[in-house]
Amino acid sequence: MTRLDDYRHLASGKVRELYEVDDELLLMIASDRISAYDHVLSTPIPDKGRVLTAMSMFWFDLLARADGTGPAFANHVVAVQDRRIPAEVAGRALLVRRLDMLPVECVARGYLTGSGLADYRRTGAVCGIALPDGLVEASRLPEPIFTPATKAEIGEHDENVSFEAVVATIGAQRAAQVRDATLTVYRRAAEHAATRGVLLADTKLEFGMLGGELVLGDEVLTPDSSRFWPADGYAPGAVQPSFDKQFVRDWLTSAESGWDRAADGPPPPLPGDVVTATRDRYVEAYERISGLSFADWIG
Ligand SMILES: Nc1ncnc2c1ncn2[C@@H]1O[C@H](COP(=O)(O)OP(=O)(O)OP(=O)(O)O)[C@@H](O)[C@H]1O
Ligand SMILES: [Mg+2]
Repeated sequence: MTRLDDYRHLASGKVRELYEVDDELLLMIASDRISAYDHVLSTPIPDKGRVLTAMSMFWFDLLARADGTGPAFANHVVAVQDRRIPAEVAGRALLVRRLDMLPVECVARGYLTGSGLADYRRTGAVCGIALPDGLVEASRLPEPIFTPATKAEIGEHDENVSFEAVVATIGAQRAAQVRDATLTVYRRAAEHAATRGVLLADTKLEFGMLGGELVLGDEVLTPDSSRFWPADGYAPGAVQPSFDKQFVRDWLTSAESGWDRAADGPPPPLPGDVVTATRDRYVEAYERISGLSFADWIG
């Protein structure tokens, strides 16, 4: 993705670019980059940035409505279509209010996998929360848990921390507030996803402050920040297929790719059929979860 000239570039993530519009506004742009096995691949997935932006917006809108299960959550979005959004990034860019971000990656888990499973196997707990014996890969937890992490330096993994560590960083009241908000968001999203045949295994949120109010920032409930599993065929005891990246993972670990994951060199470019299938998968995930048509999304 080429750099925008209109605004000052603030940061590049693995997948997104951040620009400063003015003192109060930022432009958050999702590229078509995809990461797998901790590598950003050299092959982009067409439309991925737009699909993920559409998905994030779907969830921001859903969460902004209070319902029987909880309050409305304020978010940082100002506009998805605006004269300040350059045409070349339409549909993949969000104009957002600049927040004072809380230095906590707010993770909720309803199922055990990834770093949560690794911690559990080592200690019987995740982020200091003791869990029952006998849980396995992809086990459903007795109830969703808040498992905060601190943001790692570029190239490092986020580090799971205890709730007490969050209290030490942002204070007891704020820590309790983000924990409760994270678990409420998880529950509402998991409940919605379930009605669409999708399990939400876990999700990572980022909150910030705006004039004393807690506001949802960053992206929400996209396949880049969350694990979605097809409910159909869910079977604990093995790594679940990933809703979005399975074709990529399968190909990278197949003999055909010739990639030696253990050697940790850069993965080879993806073949066209894997790219197409993955692109279609992202669109399918969006349409299935939101009930909306990607063709109706802007850009
Ligand atoms: N409304 C906002 N105001 C200020 N900063 C924000 C806002 N929303 C998101 N951010 C920050 O913008 C950055 C988005 O960057 P991005 O996620 O692309 O990269 P990253 O988090 O550094 O790396 P990674 O690729 O591992 O996610 C994050 O640091 C996030 O905390
Ligand atoms: Mg990030």
